[in-house]
Amino acid sequence: MPKFPNTRMRRTRSSPWVRNLVRQTQLTPHDLIWPIFVHEGDEAEDIPAMPGVQRLPLGQLAATAKRAHSLGIPAIALFPNTPANKKDSQGTEATNPDNLVCRAIATIKSACPELGVMADVALDPFTNTGHDGIVVNGKIDNDITLEQLVAQALVQTGAGCDILAPSDMMDGRIGRIRHALEQAGHVDMLLMAYSAKYASSFYGPFRDAVGSSGALHGDKKTYQMDPANSDEALAEIALDIDEGADMVMVKPGMAYLDIVQRVKQQFVIPTFAYQVSGEYAMIQAAAANGWLDGDAVMLESLLAFKRAGCDGVLSYFAPRVAEILG
Ligand code: PBG
Repeated sequence: MPKFPNTRMRRTRSSPWVRNLVRQTQLTPHDLIWPIFVHEGDEAEDIPAMPGVQRLPLGQLAATAKRAHSLGIPAIALFPNTPANKKDSQGTEATNPDNLVCRAIATIKSACPELGVMADVALDPFTNTGHDGIVVNGKIDNDITLEQLVAQALVQTGAGCDILAPSDMMDGRIGRIRHALEQAGHVDMLLMAYSAKYASSFYGPFRDAVGSSGALHGDKKTYQMDPANSDEALAEIALDIDEGADMVMVKPGMAYLDIVQRVKQQFVIPTFAYQVSGEYAMIQAAAANGWLDGDAVMLESLLAFKRAGCDGVLSYFAPRVAEILG
């Protein structure tokens, strides 16, 4: 590049029109997946560490789905808060075709069939251990868990789910779920794999929201990834693509955008990241104190996901962002 004054980097920043002209990255409502918490109650319930986010009753889902669709948000992701009396060591409730998440899926698909509905495949909202897998003799048993995950995937498919998102981090789950779906004739079911999911402390507020934090014994380090590792993320992504994932995800988001960039450079597959509950909480807390401009930081953070290479982002800010961009 020629030296100053032949090059003056400020020329292309000198007015709004030229900045618009040279801008490389755009954020639109179509980039967003909106995570939504549901519970068995009749009223919406606040989640203290996630100001502005509520656990919704089934009765409010139709209106919420229509709102998402009218804002141009392509899909929502559902997370059930399962009452403690329905949890057991095997996460049996996960495979009940009439469980809360299945009823939520069906409610939304009938109210707003145009909206994509995604649901996690993982046992943690349903186990009394708070773990994503089944504990046998004090350890998470990978292969026994796979059977239960396949059953869960099939009931959610039956309820009308559009995207199954295995978030459990068991080995081999994408392949087993894909095989079961093909066998059952669900050849178009989308799988978004939480492929590079780290054992992160940024999930704290989410675990309160779904009621799994009180239940959780120990940590998730034997299945979720070590935050120190990067190459391992690429191995996880490669395996999930090979096993039949249509889309992959990196999680958490802001502190892991280096992983997104490596994934996007190495693989040709739609790539997502999850701006998780703790990231949302940090921005909202600072904004509530007047320490940051909340909307500006929200938009900047999501633009950064796109710049790093994300095709889309899961974010609790989705409706607010879509409102501003719309
Ligand atoms: C459960 C799951 C978690 C999140 C999404 N799915 C938490 C966990 O693994 O403990 C976190 C989302 C967030 O923090 O917003 N498998």
